Parts: sequence; C-alpha cells; structure tokens
Amino acid sequence: MQNLEGLENRPNYAFVKLDITDSNAVALCFEEIKPDWIIHFAAESHVDRSILGPRAFVDTNIVGTFNLLESARQIWNGNFFEKVFHHISTDEVYGSLGAEGYFHETTAYDPSSPYSASKAASDHLVSAYFRTYGVPTKITNCSNNYGPRHFPEKLIPLMILNCLNRKPLPVYGKGENIRDWLYVDDHCDAIWEVATRGRVGETYNIGGASEIKNIDVVHAVIKVVSEETGCPIDRLESLINFVTDRPGHDLRYAIDFSKIKNELGWQPKETFESGLRKTVRWYLDNTSWVKSVQSGDYRNWMQVQYNQGQ
Ligand code: TYD
Repeated sequence: MQNLEGLENRPNYAFVKLDITDSNAVALCFEEIKPDWIIHFAAESHVDRSILGPRAFVDTNIVGTFNLLESARQIWNGNFFEKVFHHISTDEVYGSLGAEGYFHETTAYDPSSPYSASKAASDHLVSAYFRTYGVPTKITNCSNNYGPRHFPEKLIPLMILNCLNRKPLPVYGKGENIRDWLYVDDHCDAIWEVATRGRVGETYNIGGASEIKNIDVVHAVIKVVSEETGCPIDRLESLINFVTDRPGHDLRYAIDFSKIKNELGWQPKETFESGLRKTVRWYLDNTSWVKSVQSGDYRNWMQVQYNQGQ
C-alpha cells in the first residue's frame, strides 16, 4: 500500500484487494466498477521463484488473465466502443538470443522458464480473445525494468541493497548474460502511448536501448553506490560472489522497438547511467519502504534462494 500513497483522495481512484484467480470475485468487481479500460499488470514475475514453485505462475498468470478476459467480455457484451484490454507482458516470451539480432513483434514465441511460458500462454489467450470475440486487446512486451520501488528480488535492487548492507553480491554463472534495461518511467510513458493511441489487436515491443552484461550492471551499481555513500569501491567489489548458474538461463535479450517509435513517437528518455543514479538515490532516500518490504516472505526467499539471512 505504501506504493499507492498520495492517490487516496483522487476522485477517479479506488482500491480493491482481490485475487485474480478467483473468477467470482473478478466478475463481481467488474460488474460493480464497469471499467472501460483494463490495463493488466497483475502477475507473478520472478524467474527464480518460478523455477522453485511454478504453480503460482500458472494460476496467476494464465488462469488470472483468463478470468480478467472473461469478465471483460461479459461486461462489455459486444459493445467495444472506446474499450481497451491492455496486457503488460515481457520480452522473455521470445526465448533467448545469441550474440546478434533483436526480438521483433513477429519473432516466434520460445519461452524458457515456467515464468516466461506462463506469460506466453497469457499473451496467446489475449490474442485469441481479440480474434475470436473481437475484444479490443493490446499487448506490450517490454525488456527488464528497473527504478524506484522495484522489489529487491530482482538483480538491480538486490545488488543496491546488498551493497548498502555489505552482503555478498550473487552473480549467476560468469555474469556474461545480457539484458536490455528499461527505466520504469519510460515504460509507463510507453504503456500510456499504446493504451491511448496504439492499434487494437496489435503487439508493441518496448525496449530501453541499454544492453548490458550482468557483471557490468553489478560494476555500475557498485560505482554509483560508492559515489553516493562514500564507501570505498574496493570494499564493494570484494562482495562480488559468482554462484551456480540459473537453470535454463537465457543468454541475451534485446528489443527492436522501431514499431512503437515509428507509429507512436515513443523512445526511452533515460540512459542507463542517469536511470541507475536516480534508482540508487531513491533507495538511499526511502529506507522505511525498504525496511517494510524486507520482512516476512522476503527473508524466507533470501534464505531459500541464497542461503542468506536478511
Ligand atoms: P532478474 O532481475 O531476475 O530478471 P530476468 O530474469 O527477468 O532477466 O535477472 C536479471 C539478470 O541477472 C538475469 O540474467 C539473472 C541475473 N541475476 C544474477 O546474476 N543474480 C541474481 O541474484 C539475480 C536475481 C539475477
């Protein structure tokens, strides 16, 4: 709820807590609110968690998306004027790239992990609801997000907080895997452009134009944390710990985002350097947020995944 602070008094805001795997709860909520637009972000998103426990990914990402699509179809009942069902998805549905090339909207799906397989399945359901029932859907497949409020199970916030706490920095394999980093505000702008002006029934890829090897991401985090806190860089570098690789670890993701650029005029504003600096500063300035997300389940996760107390 801390992420939603400041919205409470807006007239167009309501918060409903429900489980999207509960079809009745979703149907009742949709009947009551009668949304014109549905922008569907709700998902289990962490690859490593999907390897340890895939069932929640199938339930939330596949069944949950199905429930939302069904309820949208029911309430709209064939009247699709000014309606949108926008599914937020991932470039991981396309599988892994080698050293060359990019993911295009037309790249065949080839997911590697239970997470990406569940997102691929949910993308297919969304497309099927457009083709079969005419539900006005849109899909965006983005690269790796980072920025404020990122849950510290993911690489960048985990490395920032472990640097601040002088804990080991676990790098999978040799750190040679490449991801394309997209600052969260750039992603939000892109979603807005697609939701408001994108073509119905289409998919748009969203990339950050920042392809970086994991080990170089870790060095970059160390440099910024050192500059912002005064901790000697050598001290932080000594925390790097190469650990067993992730099974089925995709080598490289890279996005061709020329479709959204050409059609809607969107491109990322943030460079990796500027976005990372903002991110590190946010974690330094928001210690109470950090503390609140590092309780309960988070501690268990760190123990199970890294054999590390938090
Ligand atoms: P992650 O943030 O989990 O995103 P994704 O798996 O969706 O790309 O991981 C980003 C990259 O960093 C990925 O190649 C795995 C790697 N990684 C580590 O090396 N150590 C870690 O502790 C984590 C969480 C990820």
